[in-house]
Amino acid sequence: MCGIVGYIGNKKAKPILINGLLRLEYRGYDSAGVATVEKNGINVVKTKGRVAALESVEAIDSLEGSIGIAHTRWATHGKPSDENSHPHTDKNKNFAVVHNGVIENYNELREFLGKNGYTFYSQTDTEVVPNLIDYYYNNDSINDDKKVLRAVVSACNDLHGSFALEIISTYLPEKMIVVRKDSPLVIGKANGENYISSDIPAILSYTKDFYLLEDLEYVVLSRDSAEFYDENLKPINKQVVNIDWNASAAEKDGYDDFMLKEIFEQPKSIRETIGSRLTQDGICSIENLELSKEYLSSLNKIYIVACGTAMHAGLAVKPLFEKLCHIQTEVDIASEFRYRDPLIDEKSLVIFISQSGETADTIAALKLSKSKGAKTLAISNVIGSSITREADYTVYTHAGPEIAVASTKAYTSQVVLMSIVAIYFAEILGIKSDLIPELKKDILALPAKVETALKTADSIKTFAKKVYTEKDVFFLGRGIDYAAVMEASLKLKEISYIHSEAYAAGELKHGTIALIEKGITVVSIMTDSSLTPKTISNLQEVITRGAKTLVVTNQDLGDKVFDNLIKIPETSPLISPILSVIPLQLFAYYISKEKGLDVDKPRNLAKSVTVE
Ligand code: F6R
Repeated sequence: MCGIVGYIGNKKAKPILINGLLRLEYRGYDSAGVATVEKNGINVVKTKGRVAALESVEAIDSLEGSIGIAHTRWATHGKPSDENSHPHTDKNKNFAVVHNGVIENYNELREFLGKNGYTFYSQTDTEVVPNLIDYYYNNDSINDDKKVLRAVVSACNDLHGSFALEIISTYLPEKMIVVRKDSPLVIGKANGENYISSDIPAILSYTKDFYLLEDLEYVVLSRDSAEFYDENLKPINKQVVNIDWNASAAEKDGYDDFMLKEIFEQPKSIRETIGSRLTQDGICSIENLELSKEYLSSLNKIYIVACGTAMHAGLAVKPLFEKLCHIQTEVDIASEFRYRDPLIDEKSLVIFISQSGETADTIAALKLSKSKGAKTLAISNVIGSSITREADYTVYTHAGPEIAVASTKAYTSQVVLMSIVAIYFAEILGIKSDLIPELKKDILALPAKVETALKTADSIKTFAKKVYTEKDVFFLGRGIDYAAVMEASLKLKEISYIHSEAYAAGELKHGTIALIEKGITVVSIMTDSSLTPKTISNLQEVITRGAKTLVVTNQDLGDKVFDNLIKIPETSPLISPILSVIPLQLFAYYISKEKGLDVDKPRNLAKSVTVE
């Protein structure tokens, strides 16, 4: 969840590192730090607070070196403080390390190092790493050019948990060593320089050529080379992968916030997701997903496993898989799935949705599914991300980089892509349904309809101004609209800090209605005409008790009186969350803005959750 950036080249490292950290702040932002190799050794400057705070630390101006590592932190072990900030070093500052991940056995390692004369100055798990490397370095009697690398490998062999590490050393002042295990790290290769980052977008403006690291591949970087080694120090051959993301896609492009930009990008991102997977002639095909009719017919269950918003995308498409493919489909929260001993075997297909492709629980659930014999399919936005390297099949959403912590365009692209996958499976299975041609038409029309849904922004903003001081907001929906309000409610709570809950509208009477009192705000989506009358009567119940209501619908609701009625374009109810969520993404955004909050970097959150 922390952000890592590194540079080795001929330019001054500091501005490149700071620039990278600013782009990575969405991964964590409670402290920041840099370390560079200087003539007098390794210099470390770090502080509690954001990257802006780091920039104002006086000592940072003295950093001149052209090799450096940097970090923006999302605290796991030890509160945000100057001491707990990265980089961490050993006592003599021979090694400096930044780390993303969690060292699970750090207590035992601290004890071991303590007995060997090492002292610790922070409460972090990371501080064991430079000290352990130092320990192995000092206990190695062979003095050759691989001595630092050997010490790093020995130290990593002792670490349990996840890590992406950048290491610089006074013993190897012209090089840097990096390694990852279950935590993201990429190397960007340019002319006479190498860039390192936990996320591709942070260094996309410098290069589009990347080395994507596998777990426990050790890389020794110099200015113009990258040598790769396995755990036994055997050289590995590594190919460069070209990433065709546009660097400007990682900029705000005149918008106040990334979130607003990403909301307004949805017509484009959805168009990219559809790509050539569904042609105007209705031909549906998905690259790299060759599953036979025999295999799909043999399935007795499809699981969709994910976390947070990605899990909500799963809930939105579950009915589609069941209706079109006639295969029972279950949606699971990855952190529950991995520990509940699910009934998986070779007759289960397990689909994992993850924007980042780095979510620890989702990856663990994938490994579990594979070990039980199921085929696995990853739906991800990030090329070469960990999940895509573990799964049997990967299909990319192609939504472009998503920088705001609150997911918007990734969600709609996930729902669009999964809807196309459901159609694709149904066609392979030879299932004939009138729904299919209708859905294809509706999917192709989505970019234009999203454009129309975005026009609700002004009236949503007006309503947001009226209710932004609320303490609680309730969201109600039935069927597919229940899946959509779950996502809308999550959006609101994560960026506005207003307590909000989503309920299946019919559940209201079974307890929750006790909380409804005069003035409370209730938001509802109604896109399925077969369920609308039922939801309307639930809304009448809250109106009677004095609630203010915001309704998003594509139906003609006659003379029903709601405080705010937002009309969106009509579409098949099976894919309606792609449109109905749009005004409610805007609702969350404008409320957060009214409250003067940092929309892109909400408190306590980070963009990708690489720890359990
Ligand atoms: C909420 C949000 C999170 C993520 C979740 C999974 O706006 O972004 O709930 O959806 O952490 O992340 P990925 O999709 O990267 O696995």
